[in-house]
Amino acid sequence: MKSLWIVGAEGLLGKALLKQCAELGITAIGTGKAQADITNKKSLSEKAQELLPSHIINCAAYTDVDRAEKEYDQAFQINALGAQNIAEIAQEIKARLIHISTDFVFDDTCEKPFTEETRTKPVNAYGKSKWEGENRVCMSCPRACIIRTSWLFGIGGKNFFSSLIHWLQKKERISAVNDQWGCATYAPDLSRAILDLLDESGMFHFVHPKATSRYEMAYFAQEFMQKQGMALLCKEVIALSKEAFFQPARRPSFSVLSTEKYTRTTGKKPQDWQEALKEFITDAAQ
Ligand SMILES: NC(=O)c1ccc[n+]([C@@H]2O[C@H](COP(=O)([O-])OP(=O)(O)OC[C@H]3O[C@@H](n4cnc5c(N)ncnc54)[C@H](OP(=O)(O)O)[C@@H]3O)[C@@H](O)[C@H]2O)c1
Repeated sequence: MKSLWIVGAEGLLGKALLKQCAELGITAIGTGKAQADITNKKSLSEKAQELLPSHIINCAAYTDVDRAEKEYDQAFQINALGAQNIAEIAQEIKARLIHISTDFVFDDTCEKPFTEETRTKPVNAYGKSKWEGENRVCMSCPRACIIRTSWLFGIGGKNFFSSLIHWLQKKERISAVNDQWGCATYAPDLSRAILDLLDESGMFHFVHPKATSRYEMAYFAQEFMQKQGMALLCKEVIALSKEAFFQPARRPSFSVLSTEKYTRTTGKKPQDWQEALKEFITDAAQ
């Protein structure tokens, strides 16, 4: 029988995955940083021996992309060495490992969707720390499955998308970048994809496949909320260039992950971001 250990279960993805497991009746235990710090191999190993899970899902990460430019050592400790600790432990206890990574392991010189075979070249310090983590996971636990994703949103997160509904409800005008293209990913959809890939090895990409911008998503959300008659203060969504926002970390102008391998493997196609965003708004409004 499968038993999952979700590490980093107090973050956006960890919470969504734990909820998904509860809904599907999958045995899962989640631990936050206080119960299992991935940079502390000894206590992590003790926890693993206590739980002896069939699968470990690593949702723990240092995720402050801008701060990582100044705090690379901290990002490296968690995203590279912490990931390696988990991979070594998974190998020791013969558990399968699913590790989560990012599109920031690519830069933006490619105008086609990135496949799992595209050559990596991290775009910023956070991407470099995650890339180091990917390499260490592959070396330490060869049958691990790594899933790269991007622009994760869902209830309880601390990023643009997760704050969007609140801003639309509370501000008359909001502005968003319209010249950075990428793929959004709704945390419950990624959770389902993780469960689909539990027994796979190797690299996979999972996102909502069509490229979008933060402006396009904000505009769509405003229109949808209006049509649904939801409480809304925002009257205008303003499109801005990325130059208008100072961000210490470089971000790609075009970053699209191909999900063809996921579809070939599972027979499933990720839904479009518009459908996912509608689900998110509906859930968030409850
Ligand atoms: N969010 C995105 O847009 C995005 C995009 C691409 C890929 N990803 C990847 O997706 C995964 C999940 O991201 P997320 O958005 O759910 O991140 P998140 O909300 O920031 O959650 C990460 C969790 O990891 C915990 N953590 C940090 N250091 C830890 C440690 N040493 N030991 C154990 N736990 C630790 C954090 O706790 P504290 O908050 O207490 O530090 C937090 O609860 C990560 O691998 C991330 O790199 C995210």
